[in-house]
Parts: sequence; structure tokens; C-alpha cells
Amino acid sequence: MDTSTMPVALVTGASRGLGRAVAHALTVRGYRVVADGRDPAALARAAASAPGPGTVTAVPGDQADPAHRRALGEAVRALGRLDAMVACAAALGVAPPPRLEDHPAADLERLFAVNAVAPVAMLARVLPQLEAAGGRVVLMTSDAAVAAYEGWGGYGASKAALELLTAVVAVEHPSLRVYALDPGEMDTAMLRAAMPGEDLSDRAAPDDVAPAVVRLLEGDLPGGRYIAAGMPAVPA
Ligand SMILES: NC(=O)c1ccc[n+]([C@@H]2O[C@H](COP(=O)([O-])OP(=O)(O)OC[C@H]3O[C@@H](n4cnc5c(N)ncnc54)[C@H](OP(=O)(O)O)[C@@H]3O)[C@@H](O)[C@H]2O)c1
Repeated sequence: MDTSTMPVALVTGASRGLGRAVAHALTVRGYRVVADGRDPAALARAAASAPGPGTVTAVPGDQADPAHRRALGEAVRALGRLDAMVACAAALGVAPPPRLEDHPAADLERLFAVNAVAPVAMLARVLPQLEAAGGRVVLMTSDAAVAAYEGWGGYGASKAALELLTAVVAVEHPSLRVYALDPGEMDTAMLRAAMPGEDLSDRAAPDDVAPAVVRLLEGDLPGGRYIAAGMPAVPA
């Protein structure tokens, strides 16, 4: 089978939560996926359980590490094209999130490094392949990027920085379609760490939110900021 015509997506943070759901949804749609996450065993399990005819190349590592971003870029190059980058990997930081005066500066720096600097540096590394394909970029943001919630200052500010960087990338690269997506609250490890002991069973499951990402990748929506709730899914 000639796989070179199958689209390729880079999905960061694909070992669990929303990234895993997106990677799985994309294999169902015939994408070849390059996926990362720091825990190699969890990433391998997520890759092995992908339900579609597409494939998942697992490249474990920390997205804040330039050597890991280089390895991801090489895995993309080996597949010969890149149609989409979906940036789900993110850090919550100190959990549960503390008030700003209690937030250690080293953790604030790590939040900006992982949540804002790393996705943009990763994007820079694969820009030639994305531009060649007229590709799409979806970066996960949060309502904490645009509203002031007690305890969410560090994480929210890192996502606000990511949103502005994303908007500038869009202006600088008009051949790409660049989206910031607020997925809304989801029942994932991140929200469970942020709200220990709370019943999150009424929150969305990552599999319910993944279709919003597919909509951005395959629909005709202009670049910009979107909120997943209420976005119509692309028909299967
Ligand atoms: N859950 C929510 O309610 C919510 C709300 C608004 C926005 N979001 C955003 O939606 C996205 C997905 O969130 P989620 O709830 O699915 O999170 P999650 O369950 O914590 O999953 C995060 C994923 O990213 C990976 N990851 C974390 N740090 C990484 C790093 N430094 N390098 C590489 N991979 C890393 C994790 O694997 P390892 O730990 O093994 O690295 C995991 O695969 C995030 O950008 C988050 O900020 C979530």
C-alpha cells in the first residue's frame, strides 16, 4: 500500500486525555500520526490502541527539551509531509493551582517553557512541511487564558502567552490556518489534579471534544480562537 498519500499529523501530549483522543480520531480518518508524551510506556499503550487504519509513530520525550523537538521533527520528515499540528501537551504546574503569591517562580517559569515556548518552538521546526501542505495548526488554550480565576494565574498566563504567539504566527504565515481551541472542562488527569476530590463525571470526555479538532482540521473555518462546546462535528 502506498502510504505517502495518507495525511500526516503531529499530535503532542497524545499518551492520555485530549491528545490521545485526537490521535485516535485521526487514525480513524486515515492519518499517519506522530505522537509524543513523556511517559514512554503510556505513549506506547496509546499508540498500540489506536483504532483506525492510520498509524501512530510514538516519539517519547519532554516538549520543553530541544533534542526531543528535533527528534519529533525528524519523525515528521521521515513521513515526507505534514498536514496538521495539534498541540495538546501542557503542564498544570503546582497542583492544585496556588494563589500567585504562593506560586514558586521556578514553576511559573516551567509553565511558560512547556505551555507557551515549547509549542511555538516545535511549530517553527516543522513550518516548512506545514507550509508546503497548506497545513492547519490547532493549539489548545483555556478559558483561564482570558479570565481571572483565583489560583489559575500561572497556568492561565502561560496559555494567554500561547494565544498571542499563535495569533502572531497566523499573521506571519498566512498560508497556514492557525487555530487556538478552548476545549472546555474535560474529565482528564489534568482537571483531576486541579480539583482533587471533585466529582468530574459531568464534564466532557476527551472523545467528545476530539471531533471539534477534526472540524478545525477538515472544515473550512477561518483561523482564530474557538470554543469546542457547540462546534458541529465533521460527519464520519
Ligand atoms: N482538562 C481540561 O479541563 C482542560 C481545560 C482547558 C484546556 N485544557 C488543555 O487541553 C489540553 C489537553 O489537556 P488534558 O486535560 O488532556 O491533559 P492531560 O490529561 O494532563 O494530558 C496531557 C498530555 O500531555 C503530555 N505532556 C504533559 N507535559 C508534557 C511535556 N512537557 N512534554 C510532552 N508531553 C507532555 C502528557 O503525558 P506525560 O505526562 O507522560 O508527559 C499527556 O499525554 C492541554 O493543553 C490543556 O491545557 C484542558
